[in-house]
Amino acid sequence: MRYKSQKLAYWFFALSMLLLTLQIVYGFIMAFAHLGYDVLHPVIAFNTARAVHTNLLVVWLLSGFMGAAYYIIPEEAEHEMVNVKLGFVQLISLAVVGVIAIIGYHFNYWEGRKFLEIPRPLDYLVVINVLTFLGLILATLYKGKKRTTTSLVLTMGLVFAALLYLPGMIWFDNQTLDSFFRWWVVHLWVEGVWELIMGGILAFLLIKITGVDREVIEKWLYVIVGLTFISGVLGTGHHYYYIGTPKYWLIIGGIFSAMEPLAFLGMALFAIAMYRKGEKKHPNKIALSWTLGTAIVSFVGAGLLGLAHTIPQVNMYTHGTLVTAMHGHLAFWGAYAMIVLAIISYTMPNMTGRKLYDSTTGVLAFWLSNIGMLGMTVAFGVAGVAQVYLERKMGLDFGDVQKEIQVHFLILIVCATMFTTGIGLFIYEFIRYGTPTDEAMEVTN
Ligand code: HEM
Ligand code: HEM
Ligand SMILES: [Fe+2]
Repeated sequence: MRYKSQKLAYWFFALSMLLLTLQIVYGFIMAFAHLGYDVLHPVIAFNTARAVHTNLLVVWLLSGFMGAAYYIIPEEAEHEMVNVKLGFVQLISLAVVGVIAIIGYHFNYWEGRKFLEIPRPLDYLVVINVLTFLGLILATLYKGKKRTTTSLVLTMGLVFAALLYLPGMIWFDNQTLDSFFRWWVVHLWVEGVWELIMGGILAFLLIKITGVDREVIEKWLYVIVGLTFISGVLGTGHHYYYIGTPKYWLIIGGIFSAMEPLAFLGMALFAIAMYRKGEKKHPNKIALSWTLGTAIVSFVGAGLLGLAHTIPQVNMYTHGTLVTAMHGHLAFWGAYAMIVLAIISYTMPNMTGRKLYDSTTGVLAFWLSNIGMLGMTVAFGVAGVAQVYLERKMGLDFGDVQKEIQVHFLILIVCATMFTTGIGLFIYEFIRYGTPTDEAMEVTN
């Protein structure tokens, strides 16, 4: 750690870990409901649990991205964060808005639009919060000595993510139009601008961990940004197949979305190539595992499993089934959860001055969570394919099919337990590191 203000990142990471824990609790509530044990139904109905689970996911990832930016930007710009106090205000307001939203969902204070359930009045608070965050980042960048490609790509991702939140706030009475613009947020986030955030963090980690020249790493970053936009923007069409939009979306969506895995493949090849090229043997092997892991697992979860249902002829059957949940889990895990866990693993020793990265606990956390998530993905996939055949091909009733596929949730819960053990160990390590301190200045590698 070179700048005192980088310590701010720690508190965003801590919030992140707290919300991840809560997210997992709601995941189990739903998994048990699928298995036939929906005992909490009168208090937390499935739709409530689902909205809480997915919204917590988004908030803990955003908190992780913000923490990453508060760590990376001062270091890249070579300037202290301009106003750390305001950063804390922003952290607390993020937590408060998140908590109000989550409590609200339990009392039907929400909009039933998947991923964008936050009621409009709270949306305005989100906007103020994000503007504060961006103001701090942009001002630091402006005052700093350097504007590196890495920091610019990261900032560009964050600014676009904020802008793309706005189309989701427009009010429509028409269901098709509402859906059309909802995807500008959901799709253009995860398959567009969040990839820039991921690319920026990945480049930063690779520069630090492999010791490969910045110029080489940043050249790759341009390729990834290019591939992301060429495929991802029109790739939005894969959500427009059957929602009442014109037919040409079938072909546009099909072709461009099928090219999207290229950006993720680019990231995986990039990370592996830099690792092999790197001569510097950075001691923080755990951070290296998460960094290479995120590049590879995102290719499988987002790229390959996305490709599996992106063609209109397939999506016609799989849309909105557990096949989507299969892909959603491994994509979010590989791309965005793992990149957040990677930056946490890299920064913790630097912020606290404690070098705990050589521990078996850390290694176990990595493997248990990854193997557990892979198992969950397979369980969702098997249940999803069975659901598609019974419900969409044979024409059985939705509820009857859910009974038939209950058994798959037993193995899902076993794998989820393994996953949770891994995450538990990760958080245990996080706590063991303790809080950041100024004595850790310049201990950084
Ligand atoms: C890290 C990147 C990605 C993440 C986090 C992600 C996550 C998700 C999630 C959560 C959904 C469900 C959305 C909803 O119904 O509201 C979804 C749907 C979908 N994704 Fe992805 N995805 C990613 C990348 C991709 C890629 C690269 C492709 C194509 C190659 C793809 C293809 C699809 C398709 C076709 C659907 C619609 C499924 C349906 O009709 O139910 N995704 N994705
Ligand atoms: C113990 C861990 C977890 C369990 C048991 C679990 C279980 C579930 C269940 C049962 C659903 C609802 C599927 C349905 O609609 O029927 C769901 C949805 C979802 N979960 Fe999880 N989950 C867990 C962890 C996670 C993690 C770590 C992530 C992200 C990295 C995640 C991302 C999602 C997403 C994106 C959806 C919505 C999928 C869709 O749109 O179809 N979950 N989860
Ligand atoms: Fe998409």
